[in-house]
Amino acid sequence: MYLTLIAAALANSSVRTLSQQEELPLLRDHLLRLDRTSRHDRFHGFMDDSFIERYAEKCANDGTVVIAFFEDGVVRGAAELHPSDQSPDSLPEIAFSVEASVRRRGVGSILFRKLITEARAKGYKNLRITTGAQNDAMRALAAKFGAKLVFRHGESTGTIDLTKHDQTQLATTWVDSAVNATRAVVGFNRAYWRMLLRISGGAPREWGAQ
Ligand SMILES: CC(C)(COP(=O)(O)OP(=O)(O)OC[C@H]1O[C@@H](n2cnc3c(N)ncnc32)[C@H](O)[C@@H]1OP(=O)(O)O)[C@@H](O)C(=O)NCCC(=O)NCCS
Repeated sequence: MYLTLIAAALANSSVRTLSQQEELPLLRDHLLRLDRTSRHDRFHGFMDDSFIERYAEKCANDGTVVIAFFEDGVVRGAAELHPSDQSPDSLPEIAFSVEASVRRRGVGSILFRKLITEARAKGYKNLRITTGAQNDAMRALAAKFGAKLVFRHGESTGTIDLTKHDQTQLATTWVDSAVNATRAVVGFNRAYWRMLLRISGGAPREWGAQ
């Protein structure tokens, strides 16, 4: 019954990796459609349109892979696989965004599974994910794919060990909710913050920055 409902909800939809030319306009417009709370959750407090525009531009130019969920031809969800040199220990950072209108239908899970396949094809062994400590949705989604998150400085950060999953497990994870163990990460994800700060030109207001 549950799967039938999801299948019906996902009619007229598709998932694919965006070309480099598509990334700037399609990722940007999707991110700009995120509501205020979602923007806060996705960008850890960075909210304004100009930040999002610069962020999408950066993704289009730095080799970030963007896997998009389309509904009726419009991108309603995205999974980002950032190049590894942006992380402190050279792990590729991943991030997800699903517009409120299509949430809790398994879209995030489908994107996650595709992203893992893509990351494996690139030869990555581990992925890093960072999210707000209060972000229950992202923590639930990450846990489905074996991320064990550690809380620190108001955020959760963790890794997903791709060597501990086989392809069959990954193919069924979003359906059967199998949770696989991974190693925990200790440490604040400073490089990720540096990257966001570079784009924003400063710290978010709630940090009390000038
Ligand atoms: C996090 C996010 C991507 C999840 O997308 P989604 O399409 O709703 O995810 P799914 O439908 O695949 O749900 C994945 C799991 O998380 C659980 N979940 C989803 N939303 C939840 C919530 N608000 N609270 C608790 N669990 C939640 C689902 O129940 C599901 O688990 P299950 O399969 O065992 O039932 C989406 O909420 C989002 O874009 N949020 C705003 C941006 C953001 O926070 N990004 C993360 C920063 S990297």
